[in-house]
Amino acid sequence: MAILTILEYPDRRLHKVARPVTAFDDRLHKLVADMTETMYAANGVGLAATQVDVHERVVILDLSETRGDLRVFVNPALTWISPETAEGEEGCLSVPGIFDKVTRPAKVRVHAQDAHGNAFELACEDRLAVAIQHEIDHLDGKVFVEKLSLLKQARARAKLRKRHTEEQRERQRDPHRVARREPTGL
Ligand code: NI
Repeated sequence: MAILTILEYPDRRLHKVARPVTAFDDRLHKLVADMTETMYAANGVGLAATQVDVHERVVILDLSETRGDLRVFVNPALTWISPETAEGEEGCLSVPGIFDKVTRPAKVRVHAQDAHGNAFELACEDRLAVAIQHEIDHLDGKVFVEKLSLLKQARARAKLRKRHTEEQRERQRDPHRVARREPTGL
């Protein structure tokens, strides 16, 4: 397994639309294993392949406290969204340090395949509904901050620039330092 580099907003590669997976082979299994290691190392609860610059429709989630409930979604698609919406706070491993409220359908049904190609359908609500919608957005080249007001988007970009400058300075002082990551990123 290997820890992959997570692209950070506003990297243009985050806007690529991922293509469907057609081969459920060793290469896919290695991608899932590497994404899993990357997500856990970054303290994340979800990761889309797009975020590690692989533009294929693969998402992983683990919303558990124990980090022992990994869910793999290959070619996920929403088959139903609830008319009622809910506002939830979101963060993203590709937008470190930025958390904001996003309104989305409160409940969804998702159709997907597992890493071996077996189809399944899952009813999602609460944080799971937020997380799967956030990750499917990544596969479609969308980042959650783009749902915020233009003012908030500009603030987020300024905050990220400042963070990058600070990180560079810290790296110069201590080249072995590991980058900070807040938990609950998707
Ligand atoms: Ni994200």
